[in-house]
Amino acid sequence: MKGEAELGFERIDWARAHMPINAEIRERFEREEPFSGHRIGAALHLEAKTANLILTLRAGGAEMFVIGSNPLSTQDEIAAALAETEGITVSARRGEPAEKHAASIDRLLDSSPTLIVEDGGEVIGRIVKRGIDNFPQLIGICEETTTGVEQLRELEREGKLPIPAIAVNDARMKYLLDNRYGTGQSTWDAIMRSTNLLVAGKTVLIIGYGWVGKGLALRARGLGARVIVAELDPVKSVEALMEGYDVASLEEGISRAEIVLTATGRPGVVGKEALERVKDGAILANAGHFGYEIDKTALEAISVENEEVRPGVRSYRLADGRTLYLLGEGELVNLSVADGHPAEIMDISFALQALSLEHLAKSGKDLPPRVHRVPEEIERSIARMVLSELHQER
Ligand code: NAI
Repeated sequence: MKGEAELGFERIDWARAHMPINAEIRERFEREEPFSGHRIGAALHLEAKTANLILTLRAGGAEMFVIGSNPLSTQDEIAAALAETEGITVSARRGEPAEKHAASIDRLLDSSPTLIVEDGGEVIGRIVKRGIDNFPQLIGICEETTTGVEQLRELEREGKLPIPAIAVNDARMKYLLDNRYGTGQSTWDAIMRSTNLLVAGKTVLIIGYGWVGKGLALRARGLGARVIVAELDPVKSVEALMEGYDVASLEEGISRAEIVLTATGRPGVVGKEALERVKDGAILANAGHFGYEIDKTALEAISVENEEVRPGVRSYRLADGRTLYLLGEGELVNLSVADGHPAEIMDISFALQALSLEHLAKSGKDLPPRVHRVPEEIERSIARMVLSELHQER
């Protein structure tokens, strides 16, 4: 039988074969070693595409300390493969309890990183708590997702951001593609593979019509679902209407939907009152970064029992006789019950990360402790690489 690490390397190789931009950057990094003398702490969803980013940074000369950004998205085979690679330390296990995950964040920081790449803002939160004076070697940080960037901006507003941060999420080459088409595809992949149920003809409620919500709605329609959008921002609601979706309040939409998806980045969006209205047999899932959008405590409070009925599908029998199904324990469903975004999408997102980290390694010491955009030239160079890949004869 194959061991964990061997299985991990197989998956990493599959993704690698579909990440040509990563390959191009890796080749250059091997020659130029832009991270020579650097230690990079990475807190990312530990799956095959991420592993390729980590190997690329390692090829560029960095010593790596790697942890998961959500214990439920960590794939142990990938963690095992990375742990077998020289120059890479891994502290992550799928499903590890919150205290262990928190201890991994501290271990990452205690490894004295000069640069950090993270997804969701937990590490920067911890740096602020422990005090920047404890990390004099730290040059800067790159953040992958909307929720993490929002936290960086809040720290900046409060005058508490201690180091320069690059908001990778805010690059057009990130949110237009990864948040929209990446989450659009991988979330439906997760729902279909975990439930093995039909989407066509079902009524789907998308809560939050930001970049992620737009992708979820687009792909739901493509699969033949009837789509309702519930969005707080009236302008985006009009946009959804013009796109041809039904627009409703959350309260109204949730009583009609057979599949309910959250994509707001906000806690408790589907709370007790909303849960009271959900149809019998409905499927609930979250695509937002943190597993707090669907209030699990409220769900447990109104149910008499719950059990896992398929891998990644938990059935809740409610006191009033209804049964609801929660996917991936309410964590981001595309990573908790599937493999995350397609490789070609992460090839682009991680190219932004690799080149932004290189930029920080070169110029980070001269940057003020603010939230910075990905330099336009980096975005354009990646866009050109994508176009030239697409135009190549196959
Ligand atoms: P966004 O800021 O573009 O969109 C969020 C939308 O939710 C906004 O339009 C906001 O008005 C709306 N909203 C907030 N509270 C609401 C409420 N109570 N009811 C209805 N609408 C509400 O953010 P984006 O980029 O779409 O990201 C959403 C979440 O998904 C974030 O947590 C982000 O980190 C995460 N994300 C997850 C990915 C994945 O792989 N699952 C990939 C990319 C982002």
